[in-house]
Amino acid sequence: MGKVLVIGCGGVAGVAIQKCAQNDSVFTEICIASRTESKCIALKNKLEGKTKAVITTAQVDADNVDSLVALINQVKPDVVLNLALPYQDLTIMDACLATGVHYIDTANYEAEDTEDPAWRAIYEKRCKELGFSAYFDYSWQWAYQERFKEAGLTALLGTGFDPGVTSVFTAYALKHYFDQIDTIDILDCNGGDHGYPFATNFNPEINLREVSAPGSYWENGKWIEIPAMSIKREYNFEEVGMKDMYLLHHEEIESLAKNIPGVKRIRFFMTFGQSYLTHMKCLENVGMLRTDPIMFNGQEIVPIQLLKALLPDPASLGPRTVGKTNIGCIFTGTKDGKQRSIKIYNVCDHQECYKEVESQAISYTTGVPAMIGTMLVMNGLWKKPGVFTVEEFDPDPYMDALNKWGLPWVVDENPVLVD
Ligand SMILES: NC(=O)c1ccc[n+]([C@@H]2O[C@H](COP(=O)([O-])OP(=O)(O)OC[C@H]3O[C@@H](n4cnc5c(N)ncnc54)[C@H](OP(=O)(O)O)[C@@H]3O)[C@@H](O)[C@H]2O)c1
Repeated sequence: MGKVLVIGCGGVAGVAIQKCAQNDSVFTEICIASRTESKCIALKNKLEGKTKAVITTAQVDADNVDSLVALINQVKPDVVLNLALPYQDLTIMDACLATGVHYIDTANYEAEDTEDPAWRAIYEKRCKELGFSAYFDYSWQWAYQERFKEAGLTALLGTGFDPGVTSVFTAYALKHYFDQIDTIDILDCNGGDHGYPFATNFNPEINLREVSAPGSYWENGKWIEIPAMSIKREYNFEEVGMKDMYLLHHEEIESLAKNIPGVKRIRFFMTFGQSYLTHMKCLENVGMLRTDPIMFNGQEIVPIQLLKALLPDPASLGPRTVGKTNIGCIFTGTKDGKQRSIKIYNVCDHQECYKEVESQAISYTTGVPAMIGTMLVMNGLWKKPGVFTVEEFDPDPYMDALNKWGLPWVVDENPVLVD
């Protein structure tokens, strides 16, 4: 049916590309382009003989709009799937606008250089106006709304698991189970064990920034910010068991607050073990999570990038990770004048993912929805001009595709609530 250009070839892209290759009646051609082309070639070789899709590779610097434009003009894809880092979202959106191609990603824009004075001035104004201090937010990408609309192009933002599937679960709950959703609790549990004292499940720089930042939630029309890790709850996760979880800021809260009419509270919790938190606090206290450059032996280094080089590569965790993830949402609200609550969730087994695509479940649970969102834009079901997050479309074809492509979900109509 069409051609996808995937930018980035890390953990998430590895899964998404294998899923596109499995779905070769939709993805008849796949071009894999990244900073390090050897990784793209290795993946192409791995897929040799396993798919009817025609696979090509390229090298690209996705920080450079001109290089991206040249690549897109040469490849002529129907859609660009951005699975590089959130730092590259805007350059890739610019290149899509310049070449007339649809855009898809899994994470909202984040500035790489948070010391840049021009960026900081906008950031500090936004902190004051909106009341949360995360380095990432949707304003940068929502600012492209008119340009995508005028160009007749779709930009689909945040089609991973969270954001992504969690927002589709919300749209599905609103369509089929509620007249009014009052509260949403998003619960992200990784019950996996990789056997290392400390490692992150996806890009350490992005992951550690997210976890060490203040938490925040949406309540009665405004943001409430709290010190990092200061709200803790315990929850008994289906197929995983009892875990500690902590309230974090998370990007889908921002778009759900805008798109779910009348919602009163939205919170996001993620599970962490005590050992992970102790390691992270220690690294933070000694300055290893710093994202600004320091001088070392006459050379500039960024501490968190050095840490990334020291930690296990997330892509290498697959064979050693055992256990399951359980990610989903608990909704409360009303239907036909009566109070109700439901939970929609997916359980994913790390070892089953490894058997299928040689990846752990974190990349799997992001890569599968990235393929699904891209498919729905390509086949026209989710194609409309403008910039959208996933809850703004009909959830039903996406929910069907989750069942079909490896992330089956469950609706529990009598869930345990979080206080
Ligand atoms: N929504 C969700 O549920 C969710 C969950 C997890 C992750 N994510 C998002 O998924 C994306 C990918 O994460 P990941 O864990 O796969 O990260 P990763 O393993 O670090 O992979 C990133 C890839 O992007 C490439 N890249 C980085 N900068 C580039 C540049 N300037 N030009 C070209 N290529 C560049 C890297 O190239 P090299 O190989 O040369 O380093 C690497 O192949 C991130 O945006 C992350 O935030 C979303």
